[in-house]
Amino acid sequence: MQEIQVKRTTAPKSKPDPATLLFGKQFTDHMFLMDYHAGQGWHDARIVPYGPFSLDPSCMVFHYAQEVFEGLKAYRTPDGGVQLFRPDQNIKRMNNSCERMCIPAIPEDLFLEALKQLVSLERDWVPSQSGTSLYLRPFVIATDANLGVHASHSYIFAIICSPVGSYYPEGINPVKIYVENDDVRAVRGGTGFAKCGGNYAASIRAGQRAEELGYSQVLWLDGVHRKYIEEVGAMNVMFQIDGKVVTPSLSGSVLPGITRKSCIELMQHWDLPVEERLLSAEELFSAAESGKLDEAWGTGTAAVVSPIGELAWNDRKVTVSGGKIGSLTQKLYDTLTGIQWGLLPDEFGWTVKVC
Ligand code: PLP
Ligand code: COI
Repeated sequence: MQEIQVKRTTAPKSKPDPATLLFGKQFTDHMFLMDYHAGQGWHDARIVPYGPFSLDPSCMVFHYAQEVFEGLKAYRTPDGGVQLFRPDQNIKRMNNSCERMCIPAIPEDLFLEALKQLVSLERDWVPSQSGTSLYLRPFVIATDANLGVHASHSYIFAIICSPVGSYYPEGINPVKIYVENDDVRAVRGGTGFAKCGGNYAASIRAGQRAEELGYSQVLWLDGVHRKYIEEVGAMNVMFQIDGKVVTPSLSGSVLPGITRKSCIELMQHWDLPVEERLLSAEELFSAAESGKLDEAWGTGTAAVVSPIGELAWNDRKVTVSGGKIGSLTQKLYDTLTGIQWGLLPDEFGWTVKVC
């Protein structure tokens, strides 16, 4: 494995007040960078002071969005240490996304080492207040200066870090979600299962419309039938209907969330079977209207486990769990964050100690 060179900043920034942390607004002193050139492979792994890139305006990423990204967090543990949650899963998913976007894979061991070394250097930026963490954003961009539509021959892989609080201003309070009928996020055969910027660009218009109506995010329907529930803008979704947990199956157009996977594994461990299947908006709303929708929540690295208190679809509007967090949602939140923050034993071997 190649060595990671380190150049420290000479101008460290002051750290934000942890009580006022939002999501993704401030960045730490350093970032990880590595270059790729065809014939040379990934090279020049380095940690350098955080700062802007200088790129040719014709770079492919600006025009054709050949890029992928990931999101994971570093957590402060009660002994003052720092740990990551399932970084192996993010590394694998990033390389799956790379494969879909014709980007050369990142060597897994080097990726993990880069995360560990960067977080270790930035350890004083990992906040310790309840509900806070250091969000890590690895990404790859295509840097060939070329307006032809082909795979780039050069790339930059970067990791930046941002101390964060909760993703939604609501915190752990239930969010309101709007079912989108017109725009679609992804279709099978497209890039929905990959974490690439284009998916998010396509989602902004509907998100904006939902926000104007007072909703936090959009619940996407499948792109073919416009009938089946897929996921929310930045989370997978789960529902407890008549005592049974149901979540949309990974159809190819849904992001295979790591929080989703972890919640399913936790519930299976609790002998609570989870049905991964097609779930139509009609089935969901009929269940809610007949009093059978017990709980609804979203799962995501940024959003953690986020209760859904209200769902709207066309002119149908339903309140879930009386607009409060349900007991299963709370149990999932407490268990998952307990493991992430080192407050509960990690029976599953999900955490990786950094320092
Ligand atoms: N779905 C979308 C569209 C997302 O952006 C995210 C966030 O990463 C998720 C689901 C949840 O994935 P994970 O739990 O791996 O963060
Ligand atoms: C994450 O949860 O890590 C995400 O990537 C969500 C992001 C789009 C804000």
